[in-house]
Amino acid sequence: MFVETTLAKWGATPVIDDALLVVSELVTNSVKATGVTTRDPNWAELGELKLISVRLLGLERSIMIEVWDVESREPVAQRADFNAESGRGLFLVEAIASRWGSRPARPGKVVWAELLIQHRRDE
Ligand SMILES: Nc1ncnc2c1ncn2[C@@H]1O[C@H](COP(=O)(O)OP(=O)(O)O)[C@@H](O)[C@H]1O
Ligand SMILES: [Mg+2]
Repeated sequence: MFVETTLAKWGATPVIDDALLVVSELVTNSVKATGVTTRDPNWAELGELKLISVRLLGLERSIMIEVWDVESREPVAQRADFNAESGRGLFLVEAIASRWGSRPARPGKVVWAELLIQHRRDE
């Protein structure tokens, strides 16, 4: 909702679908790396919950999606084989984003992806 409403407010409507896909892959990865992923976690487990954050930057010709988590290990796109059920998320991000990457953020790291905004010629 944050990504959708913010991009709509910015008038960046054409990239909303791509942004939702990218942010869901990146947030899923952050949850897998730092979150509680057991089914029906108990109260004590939830007390250990780590914060993650999503930040959007509106630039002149693009938007940047940044997802921060406390795990310092940075992601590496894997070579998913044809039948693999995992390891495709970052390939998807790579296909959709004009650029993506990660940087240390002490604690943790930020994984970011850039989506280009296509301006109409008459603008
Ligand atoms: N936020 C992250 N923190 C640490 N490792 C990550 C993060 N995102 C991705 N990775 C690593 O990169 C791998 C590839 O990610 P991805 O392509 O999304 O595949 P999948 O999530 O299905 O494993 C993950 O399995 C994980 O080891
Ligand atoms: Mg993933």
